[in-house]
Formats: sequence, C-alpha cells, structure tokens
Amino acid sequence: MTAPRTPKIPYGGDYNPEQWPEEVWDDDHRLFTRAGIDTLTVGVFAWSLTQPAPDTYGFTVLDRILDRAAAEGRRVCLATGTAALPPWLAERHPEVNRTDFEGRRHRYGQRHNFCPNSTVYRTAATALAGRLAERYAGHPALLAWHVNNEYGGACYCDVCAGAFRAWLRERYESLDALNDAWWTTFWSHRYTDWDQIEPPSALTEHWRGPDHTAFQGITLDHHRFTTDALLGCFLAEKDAIRAHDADTPVTTNMMGLYRPLDYHRWAPHLDFASWDSYPPPDAPPTRAALGHDLTRGLKGGAPFWLMEQTPSTTACRDVNPLRRPGELRLATWQAVVHGADATLYFQLRASRGACEKYHGAVIGHAGRDDTRVFREVAALGGELAGLGAATLGARTPARTALLFDWDSWWALEISDGPSRAVRYPDVVHAYYRAAREAGADVDVVPVTADLAPYDVVLAPVLHLLKGDLADHLTALTRRGGSVLATFLTARCDEHDRAFLADVPGPLAPLLGIRIDEWDSRPPDVVQPVDLGEVRTGARHVFEIVLPRGAEPVGTYGADFYAGTPAVTRHRLGAGEAWYVATALDQPGVDHVVRRVLARHDLVGPYAQHPAVETATRVAPDGTRLLFLLNHAPEPAHLTAHATATDLLTGARAERGEPLTLDPLGVAVLRLQ
Ligand code: GLA
Ligand code: ZN
Repeated sequence: MTAPRTPKIPYGGDYNPEQWPEEVWDDDHRLFTRAGIDTLTVGVFAWSLTQPAPDTYGFTVLDRILDRAAAEGRRVCLATGTAALPPWLAERHPEVNRTDFEGRRHRYGQRHNFCPNSTVYRTAATALAGRLAERYAGHPALLAWHVNNEYGGACYCDVCAGAFRAWLRERYESLDALNDAWWTTFWSHRYTDWDQIEPPSALTEHWRGPDHTAFQGITLDHHRFTTDALLGCFLAEKDAIRAHDADTPVTTNMMGLYRPLDYHRWAPHLDFASWDSYPPPDAPPTRAALGHDLTRGLKGGAPFWLMEQTPSTTACRDVNPLRRPGELRLATWQAVVHGADATLYFQLRASRGACEKYHGAVIGHAGRDDTRVFREVAALGGELAGLGAATLGARTPARTALLFDWDSWWALEISDGPSRAVRYPDVVHAYYRAAREAGADVDVVPVTADLAPYDVVLAPVLHLLKGDLADHLTALTRRGGSVLATFLTARCDEHDRAFLADVPGPLAPLLGIRIDEWDSRPPDVVQPVDLGEVRTGARHVFEIVLPRGAEPVGTYGADFYAGTPAVTRHRLGAGEAWYVATALDQPGVDHVVRRVLARHDLVGPYAQHPAVETATRVAPDGTRLLFLLNHAPEPAHLTAHATATDLLTGARAERGEPLTLDPLGVAVLRLQ
C-alpha cells in the first residue's frame, strides 16, 4: 500500500476543534477555504473525550468534526489518539505509567507517557483504535489513519524487564549465545539464568546517563527491544484498524533523525511514511533535507507525508525564533522537492491554554485572516493547488546512496573511546551536505538496501559492519562504482564486538589500508590536512593509516603522523574505494565528495551556487521535474542548463539563457 491517492498535494494540519466552542468552527472552515486547506489531522489527543470512562465511548464530537469536514469537501487524517493517557486509566491501573531510566515509577501526567508493554495499555489502546475504525471506516472524509503520535522513549518497569528477557530468549535461544554476544566474561557478568538479566539503566549498567554503559552489547539490544516494543503497540493498533477497514492507508508520524527508534525496523509495517520536521534554529537547509531523504528512504523511495511543521514558530525550545517572510514557503517546497506528497502543519488554530499556547498556528488566538503568517499560508495553498497532481507519486532518480544505520549511531555514541565528541548525525550530515550542495540527488538508505541503482555509496562512521555489506560494497566498486568510508567505520560486528583483524575489519581489503592506532584530541585541536588543491582542518579522531594498495590523496600536517595519509583512494576493478581517516572540516568533506561525484558526472550544473538547492523528481508518466530552491536572501543569477517551463509561473527558460531566482525563490521546472 502507498500514501493515499489525492488529486493534489494534501494541505492542512493538526486540527483540534474539540478544544473550542462550536461557533468557532464556522470561522475555522471559512478561513480554511481561504487558505486552500483541504486536509485536517483530527483526534491526536482526544482519548479522554472519545472514552471518558472505562466502559463509555463518546463519538458525538468526532462525528460532528468529520461530518462537517465532509460537508466542506475536506479530508481527514484520523488519529487514534492513544499517545496521551486519560486520567481515569492511570488512576485505575497505575502500571500504565512509565518507569524512567532512574527507576522512578511516574504518576499521571504529560503525554507519550504509557508503558509500551503494559497489557492494560495495549488492550485499551487497541480497543479505542478498533472502535474508531468501526465507526469511521468508509466515512467520506476519511483519508488516512494516524496511529498514536511521535512514538518514543523507553520504560524500565518490571513488566518491560520481563518483556526484554523474553525478547532476548527469542533472539539468542541460549544463554551461551547471549554471553558470547555481550562478551560477559568481561567484568564477571556470565549469566546462568535469564532472570538475572537487568535492563540497562541508571540503576544497572549505566553511569552519567544513557550514553555511558559498561556493556555496549546490552544497551544496543535494549534499544532494539524498545524499538520493537513500541512497534508492537503500533502493529496492535494497526491490526485493530484493519479488522474494520481494509483499505485506508495507515501511518504514524515519525521524527526523522530520532535516535531512540530504529525506523528501518518499522518501515515494512507502515503503509506510507510520514514525519514531523522541526529543524534546529540556524541549521543549514540540508539538515531538514536529510530528514526528508531519510524518511523517503524508509519505503524504498516512495513519497511520504510531511505530517507536521510549524507555520511560524515552535514553543518547546528555550528560545523560539520566528520563520522569516518567505521561509515557510521555501521549507514547504523543500519537503515536496525531497518527495513529500502532502504538507501539513502543526497546527491550524492555536491552543488557548497549556504549554503550546505560544506555538505558531495558521490561525492565531484572534482568529484573523490578515496576519502575515495567514497570508503566507494562503498564498502557498494557492500555489500548491495550481500545481495539481504534477508531483504526486514522483520518484527521485538518485545515483548516490548514503548508508544510514541506527545500530551504528547507537554503538558510536555509547562507546567509551576514542572520542565522545564524534556525533553520528553531524558526520552523516557533513557528507550528505557535501553531496547535496554539489547537486547530487541522494537516497538515504539502510545498509541492507539493494545497491544496484547506485554509482556512489557514502558510508560515514558506519561503526558496525553487519551481514554481507562488505561483499556488496566490493562488488559495487569492482563494477566501476565508488565507495567512500570514514574513520570509525567497520570497527565492530552487530554486537559491538571488535573484529579480530586489522582495522577496518572486513572493509580493509576493499579500502586497501591497515590501521593500527588512532589519536583523539579535544574539539578545539585542529590538525591541518593537505588535500592537494585544498588545505583544510580536521578534528576529534586521527587514524594513522598504513596504505596496503591504496594511494594517499591527503595527508596530515602536524604531530608525529605529519605526512601520513588522512585520505586514501584504492583502485579496485573498474572502481574506487575512498577512505577519510579523520573528521575533516566541511570544506575538506566538500572537496573529497566532489572528487568522488565528478568521476561519475554527478556534480550538478548549479554546483557553483551552494545556496541553490536542486533536486529531480520523475513523475509516474515520465515527466522530469527539476526543482531549484534559492536559500539565500539575495537573488541567484544562473544560466539555464536545459530548456524548461516553470510550472509555478508558466515562464519558459531557454537553455543557455539567464535564469534568475528571487531571494528564497523556487522554480519547478518541467524539463523538455
Ligand atoms: C510534535 C507533536 C505535536 C506538537 C508539536 C509542537 O511534533 O507531535 O503534538 O506538540 O510537536 O512542536
Ligand atoms: Zn514498562
């Protein structure tokens, strides 16, 4: 199953009219019409309304919301509403509340607060999901199911501990296998009974917090278990929906680069992927783009939904900057460019009270349609409507893949040594950014992905090397492709046990190198690296590379390893395997990645304009769309590399003629 079929990009967002008087609904719909809003995400936090007591369900308000939407010609993404517990459930069954990392059983409060393994919780949540599906399957407004909300976190209660042991039994079958995987003879941990196993927490293997563990193998398995436990909640609700509704696509809103959950384990179970994009303030635009591409990669490149973004400002940060004029439009087009087939907001009307009353909304507390934000939202609604179905179902024809691996993320960041300053998303982003700013379309894929479509594979800080990936990367290189790996790649197996071999383990023959030692320095120590045409800095970790077939491409410029390789290239078969042995500063990463891409003619025609983002999507009918986004506050003066028509303005650009993008401007070019 894929995302719902629609005649245009669904546009709208979270809508909670149960929180305000019904007279206001008239205003809501009048303003929605003005803004081109056709899709409402309903019921995300409505549990205490739809089930006010154990045996009492009440759907009058939801009926009215959905019927009204249908009457207005709008569609609904209907949430099951199981992410925030109603007070009565926690009062009757305190075990539905979570126990935290420090071992404290929480009392009723907040949201995203349920124990994922509590039978009481699962029974109540699936009963509600089933009731909703029974009632609204076939409702004319129903477009998609939104299960729960932003699944996340972990619970350390006794029930969860029991479930962890059961999960381990299934995975390892014998304690010998488990003891071997976790290397428990170290520090006298050999388990002789499954019941001796404790979930890793502040009371057991951890000190200083979730990243400091005595046994990486235990903590890694606990992350996998937590991922599966929450996935179990999702699947239970999905099954309850499917019992009444066989057709409507089901999703849950994910969070992109969210460390606690391995979304690749979830991906096969989603009918379509969706995510909430709240990029950190001042992050380069490639940061949000990486989240989009990661989400698109969950379903093999199929379009996803942008389930939430703020039209103006968040409320949850200490300081919440406002989106400048034009920035919302650009961010929205950026989502479409990367494969979003729906763009939705949190939220359509601002909450009157509680912690999100300051959160930006399409309609503010005063209910006006002449605010700057409303006008920008409405203008964008018009633009999206004008585009019709042109982008729907379109795929990205990327020839560059970036391998993204939650196991490696976890293993790297819970490792004692060589440096806690290396953060997985930062290194991944540096390589992703380099490729994107060079104009390459990039698929962000799991390590199990089929690599056949790709010429270039980037494998930054892939700390764990699993399965037969080394063989696939070698085959890709031999047939003429390029592989790029970095420092701290292929150090350990799936259990975080070091390979009993030269570093980088199974990748050493492919990369043509051997590493015996590595240095690590505080973040303010910058090593000069000479890359030939470019001199750059490097930080954090400095591996000392002994070439064994590879040639040096860049060298360290200081310390006792001055003059030794910091970057190498190994020609193998018809291809090349590159290794970057340190955390190069961005200009160094850019230089190396462009050299790799250039070999395959993958540096784009506008690569000299780093503020201009380009992306291609190919529509189901074969139409090629080239998107140009100008992230700079000044106009971008380009020369059109092909003849094309801008679908937003109707203007034709002739190949070789000047092409100007406005500040924060967008062009959607249909290539001839
Ligand atoms: C998340 C949640 C929403 C809301 C927004 C606020 O994405 O899903 O319910 O809290 O954050 O930014
Ligand atoms: Zn629990």
